[in-house]
This record gives sequence, structure tokens and C-alpha cells, in this order.
Amino acid sequence: MIDVQTIRQDFPMLKNNPDLIYFDNGATTLKPQCVIDAVTSFYTHHTSNVHRGDYAIAAKNDALYDGARRSFAKLLNCSPKEIVFTHNASASMNQIAYGLAHGFLKKGDVILTTEAEHASDLLPWYRLQEEFGIEIRYLPMDNQANVDLEAAKKCFTPEVKAVAAAMVTNVLGSILPIRELTQLAHEYGALMIVDGAQAVPHMKVDVQEIGMDFLVFSAHKMCGPDGVGILYGKYDLLERMEPVFMGGDMNARFQKAGTYELKHAPGKFEAGTPNIEGVIGAAAGCEYLMKIGLDNIHAYEKELRAYFLEQMSRLSNIEIYNPDNEYGPITFNAKGVFSQDAAGYLASRNIAVRSGNHCAKVLHEILGTDSTIRASFYFYNTAEEVDRFVKAAADITLENAISIFF
Ligand code: ALA
Repeated sequence: MIDVQTIRQDFPMLKNNPDLIYFDNGATTLKPQCVIDAVTSFYTHHTSNVHRGDYAIAAKNDALYDGARRSFAKLLNCSPKEIVFTHNASASMNQIAYGLAHGFLKKGDVILTTEAEHASDLLPWYRLQEEFGIEIRYLPMDNQANVDLEAAKKCFTPEVKAVAAAMVTNVLGSILPIRELTQLAHEYGALMIVDGAQAVPHMKVDVQEIGMDFLVFSAHKMCGPDGVGILYGKYDLLERMEPVFMGGDMNARFQKAGTYELKHAPGKFEAGTPNIEGVIGAAAGCEYLMKIGLDNIHAYEKELRAYFLEQMSRLSNIEIYNPDNEYGPITFNAKGVFSQDAAGYLASRNIAVRSGNHCAKVLHEILGTDSTIRASFYFYNTAEEVDRFVKAAADITLENAISIFF
């Protein structure tokens, strides 16, 4: 169970902005005090590099940094050796794409993806299409970005070598049948790559139970600091995969002649000084979420969303694009008002949402519009905030939206 009023005390942003309704959690989440303390403590009490120092503070940071892998491994039910720290979900996906292009895929191979993907799960594949002759195909989706498995099965042919899809889509919150898609991919000898950026912070994701080969997500969408991405990969695949970045710490040895030997995974993927304080803070966030319980978070958000949907559905000026999905954000427009103007009006009522295409720039093909407002929640949002939001949404008219500029 979530005791939301107690939880809200953990978030200084909420205390310092008592009138703010923060419904932009799909873009980034607020940070609890324990995460802020973990980062601050690194700067004020134990600054050092990692994996390079022979003094007590450096050893402490080695233990914290490498211990962070254990936190994420516990979250995902995998080995710490299968957790790579990158800079964000895009960096993780680029690493996978680079790795697949160098030793896994060949010209004419097919990657299956969806039109609902965020840029981070399309542009790395578009580059492979352009530079390596990899073909991209899209799984069919309905207009709320749901995949029908029977239709999906027809897309699997022997040329399909990888499937890359979001577990929860970032605009419409549809939950894709990742377990079934993973099984299908494996039947065809293809790899399953999952964008978990909008899933891992909100629900229990067990990589062994699902069986995907790779999973990417970012710390900042799960109460952690910016600039930390997590890449989970099955260990044998990580061992076979070439790193994008070469440099410090990731090598075992190198010689003047240009020969070199890399460290084993995950170290070989972490060239240069990493975001040490970010990783330590990310682990604090991860532990915080596990303490609250991902199942509790999921159940709470689902209930809050259902209430929000019920209230918003009563407004005649609002068009909702994902009314049948049970999870994730509510995505809508106010009739006759451009989404950014409507978001500006909401901002004038101290409400934070995201408007536009939400980095999912081919989604308009199935959605029928390329500009929407997304209200996205987390476990610290409340029904009272929903009520205030709905009152404000009822007032979004062209006249009101324009009036804030004058
Ligand atoms: N990927 C983030 C979003 O969907 C930024 O808003």
C-alpha cells in the first residue's frame, strides 16, 4: 500500500513548491531526499575517482559504485555482471545498435520495431539501415499503440534478427506483450531488445522471467539523478559485443603497436571516468523504489489513472487518445487548441505537463495527430491533484489559452 502523504514528505520539490502539480513524470521524476543526500555526500564527504585510487575514500567509492550494480541486479533479477552504466537510455540503445552492427547483423537482416517508439529506439536503427543495409519493419499497432500478437506473428520471417520495442510506450502508455514477443523472437533466432524507460520505474520487470536479451532505461525517470543510463544484457551477449567507446578503465592492457585487450563485461563498456555520483544516487533511488515496492507503485498508479480518466472523460472540451489503455499517462488535446498553447494555459495554473510529439515522431501515423498533451503520473501524485487538474482542463478554451499571452 502507498501512504502518499508520507511519501510526499520525502520529496523536497513538493515541499518547496506546494502549489505545483507535477504531471510530467514521463519526462523525468522528482528526487527523494535520500538520492539528493547520496549525491551531496559524494561531493561534501567522499569525492574521488573510481577503480583508480589506493586510499580509503577511493575504496569507499569503488564499493558504492560497484554496489550500485547489485541494487539494479536485485531490481531486475539478474547478475551484477549484466548491469552496464551508461549516460542515458539513448546511450544504452546506441551501444546495443553499435554492438549488433559489429559482429551480429549483416546486410539484409531485419529489425522489427514499432511506430510508437521514442527516438532513442528508432534513430539508432535508422543509422544501421543507412550505414549497414539493415532493413526496418514495423509491427502492426492499433490507434492506441497496442500490438496484436496474431498480427505480429505474421511479421516474423527468417530474416528477422532482432526485435526492438518499448515495454510501455511513452505517449500512450500501452503495455506491449514483451514476454510473448520475446518468445517469438527466440523461436526465430532473433534477439529481443526492450526499451524499459517508461516501464522499469513503474512496475516489476524480471528479466529472467521475461527472457529479453537486452533492456535499457534511465535513472532520472526513477527518482535518480540525470546522466545515468542502465543497460542490462545477457552476459554471454555482452561478452561478445564490441563497446562503442574506447579509453580509460575499460582496457586490461595495450601496447605501442596498437594491440589491446579489453576488460570483461561490464567494465569494457564504461570507458573514462563515469558519472560516479550519479550512479551512487541512482542506486539510492533504486533502493528507495524497492523499499516502497514496484507492485505497490504499479497498483497505485493504475488506480490514480483510472480516476483521472473517469474525471477527464466527463469534459466535453477534451479529446483523449488512449481511453482504453489501463496504464501510463493520459494523452489528450483540448478541442480547437494547439497542444502547446493548452500546456501554457495549464502552466498558468501551476500545472506541469508535456506537449508536442514527445520524441515519438512517427507515432502520428497511427495516432492521427502529431501534437498532444501528456499528463504522466508517479506514486507521489494524488487524487486531489487530479481534481485540481480536471478543473483547470475544463477551462482550456482558445480564448483562455490566448489570454495568458496578453
Ligand atoms: N523520453 C522522455 C519523454 O518521453 C523525455 O518525455
